[in-house]
Amino acid sequence: MDSADISADLQHVLLTEEELLNRIQILADQIQADYEDEEILLVGVLKGAVMVMADLVRSLRTHKVEMDWMAVSSYGSGTTSSGVVRILKDLDTHIEGRHVIVVEDILDSGLTLTWLLKNLGSRHPKSIEVFTLLRKPEAMKVPVEAKYVGFDIPNEFVVGYGLDYAQKYRNLRCVGTLAPHVYEN
Ligand code: PRP
Repeated sequence: MDSADISADLQHVLLTEEELLNRIQILADQIQADYEDEEILLVGVLKGAVMVMADLVRSLRTHKVEMDWMAVSSYGSGTTSSGVVRILKDLDTHIEGRHVIVVEDILDSGLTLTWLLKNLGSRHPKSIEVFTLLRKPEAMKVPVEAKYVGFDIPNEFVVGYGLDYAQKYRNLRCVGTLAPHVYEN
């Protein structure tokens, strides 16, 4: 779905598909240089990270990369995370002794990743880093070190490229903000 398909619902386009893909390729090249010939395990956090994972993994020019997925749910209501996380789906693979990169669509308050890094860290990976397509510096409640960051964005509610509003708009190719009437309905 393109922005033109839902122009009435969109307030503005923050990042175009081209900008997203160009930036992901730059970060993929950086990962390639950092890990050289080492094996990497990308851990995607469902569901938001599906799109960025699909593009990131295809931008890497190595076969020494695997994907695994976790689904987590944050206790607490609505749009804000509480920091208390429940695992809905755990990894299929063991990560002990492996180079892990956690792949996220967005780093907002930082609560989810703080919990996740602690949890995954206790499984003794060889290394663990964070890739996040978007980061909201103004929304951070706890500092999270992310080595690979696509874009720092303002503290606005954004949808598209995996990010949802009430589970919709994930299939929008760009990242944008919604018009107020969408929320008011
Ligand atoms: C989003 C995003 C992160 C988390 C970030 O997931 O994918 O996992 O919120 O927020 P935080 O930094 O404030 O903890 P969400 O819970 O919306 O689930 P989804 O990926 O299925 O949309």
